[in-house]
Amino acid sequence: MDGATDVAERLALVGAATSVDDLRALYDAWAETYDDADVAAHLRSPAPAAVAAHLATLVDPRTEVLDAACGTGLVGAALAERGFRSVDGLDLSPMMVRRARRRRVYTDLGPADLRDDVPGAGEKFGAVTCAGGLAPGHLGPRALVGFLRVLRPGGVLVAGMADETWALGYELAVDRLVAGGYARPVDDVPRPSDGPGRLLVLEAREVPGPGRSVAWRS
Ligand SMILES: C[S@@+](CC[C@H](N)C(=O)[O-])C[C@H]1O[C@@H](n2cnc3c(N)ncnc32)[C@H](O)[C@@H]1O
Repeated sequence: MDGATDVAERLALVGAATSVDDLRALYDAWAETYDDADVAAHLRSPAPAAVAAHLATLVDPRTEVLDAACGTGLVGAALAERGFRSVDGLDLSPMMVRRARRRRVYTDLGPADLRDDVPGAGEKFGAVTCAGGLAPGHLGPRALVGFLRVLRPGGVLVAGMADETWALGYELAVDRLVAGGYARPVDDVPRPSDGPGRLLVLEAREVPGPGRSVAWRS
């Protein structure tokens, strides 16, 4: 089986996963060879390096970053090349996390299911990245709430996703979060110049009231 076939078959299996346990097992089994192919290109999603490059245009490298759905750590590696020194990573798959750990570019790493929320305290990070994690069967629109919750007011989310994914509830979710005062869209976001997909860039807003709970309003 050549590399391209392998990726296509693995992505078909991932796309057909019917439970989070199946998805975790598929990524666990893929972890060792995941970096052999350009998976982002197959997903028609911006490259991890493009997500890192865009974040670097927005924040200082001293910013504390959470790389959500970090996989094998491609975003973390690209951020390290740009001088970022405080990057945490979380991912559903313990084996992907293990691969990411070997890069020695993350401050803290662990397995976590990020569909409903991000574990830990709120307002902890100055930036959240997510490359290829906002996708069907992976992290749905609700995950955006967790990302915003762990961002300090003024912190930014930079997520890379396929164009065709945007209409699958994410656009609506962003509209609601902006209308609710939880986030501000960052204007003039370029499309990645050298690849497919779109970047979603949001700035977390100060949420008035006791505590700062980004509640999902349906
Ligand atoms: C296409 S890969 C992208 C990995 C990495 N960000 C990159 O750019 O190479 C998608 C990642 O999302 C993770 N993922 C899927 N569902 C998740 C969930 N519910 N919570 C956390 N991570 C999840 C997978 O384990 C996988 O590592």
